Amino acid sequence: MAFALPVWLAVQDELLRHGEADCGTPSRFDDFDDEALFQMFHLTRPCIAFITDAVRARMKTVTLDKLGLSVDAMVMVALNYYAHGVSSAVILQRIGLRQTDCTAIIVGTVSGVIAGMSDQFVSFPLTPDAKANVAVKTEELCGIPSVLGVLAPAHFKIRASPYEKNTFRSFVNTLGYTSVVSQIICDSDGNILSVEKCCMGSTSEQEMWESSFRGREIEKDLHGPFWVIGGKGYHLSKHVLTPVSEPANDSEICFNKAHAKIHDVMRTTLGSMKRRFRCLMQLGFAQEASLSKKSNIIKACSVLHNIAKKFSVPPPPVAGKIEALHPGKQHSAPVEIDPEALKARQKLIEDNFSFVSSSQDSGGNNITEDNV
Ligand SMILES: *[C@@H]1O[C@H](CO)[C@@H](O)[C@H](O)[C@H]1NC(C)=O
Ligand SMILES: *[C@@H]1O[C@H](CO)[C@@H](O)[C@H](O)[C@H]1NC(C)=O
Repeated sequence: MAFALPVWLAVQDELLRHGEADCGTPSRFDDFDDEALFQMFHLTRPCIAFITDAVRARMKTVTLDKLGLSVDAMVMVALNYYAHGVSSAVILQRIGLRQTDCTAIIVGTVSGVIAGMSDQFVSFPLTPDAKANVAVKTEELCGIPSVLGVLAPAHFKIRASPYEKNTFRSFVNTLGYTSVVSQIICDSDGNILSVEKCCMGSTSEQEMWESSFRGREIEKDLHGPFWVIGGKGYHLSKHVLTPVSEPANDSEICFNKAHAKIHDVMRTTLGSMKRRFRCLMQLGFAQEASLSKKSNIIKACSVLHNIAKKFSVPPPPVAGKIEALHPGKQHSAPVEIDPEALKARQKLIEDNFSFVSSSQDSGGNNITEDNV
């Protein structure tokens, strides 16, 4: 469980109250049957009702008066945009919006409100219990102990103008397309535990990690003796556990397999987010100055992803292949590996992944020596 229990009790409470209050006030979403609702928003009715209530509680009345729309209508436009990356004519017609240019303002406003909910719904494990819980589940999945989450850069495609050469180049990532990139940490169930930053696509994940809030906290030992799982693009440290680049024996191969297994959770998590919220497949034009709007949309979708998971709403089915994880920036100069970190990783491999070799060659040799 990624969220502290009190938060989810409050959530349930809010939900129950909603159920009661809802009897008298039909929601605009009631016009859709369940199937149409899922088609339009990739979410279910109780989940949408919960989101609408949460937004209503946080939306300033000034904003609503200025736009002359109800919260229902605004949430409807925003959720529809997240699900499809464009606004459906059906929705705009239904709420009586003629100018589609209004939709950018609506999506911007709602995204700001939902992104602001990340304090509550995107929660990094802070208490000893919460940390132990994440670590135990991860160890059950892959056998690596003391892991607080899986760390990765998440790239989202954008359009950038090739006429602005320098800016354009900064948006081109190592896969050769223009993107913005955020830093995401998830748990072994695919709940998002942290989402930070929205940088131009060429930014390396190591650079983001070192300047990120979570990264600095974790590297300063503020979270205790825990690891986060990172891909090849990160430097091995006392808290970032990377795979062994050239595995030399069965133990290391075995460790790398476990690492790949848990790391893959991030790929499926991002894949499921991009299926549910297709706006993340193409976030539109970006200038350097407008990154905060993209950032709000990415954070909003992370909040909604966690809420959808709590309500057990599956994402739309896979169409085609799930995108591979970004391979990570190659280091131009060989990185000096922190010897302490190397020792810690070797100890982990020895303690938890050496059982394989003991039943093979080296084990056999030992027995012979003993016998002699
Ligand atoms: C595997 O290789 C690493 C690196 O060479 C070494 O430190 C470790 O002791 C080896 N483990 C076994 C079980 O041979
Ligand atoms: C990993 O090693 C530690 C330390 O020896 C041990 O306490 C733990 O049970 C091991 N976990 C697994 C899954 O082998």
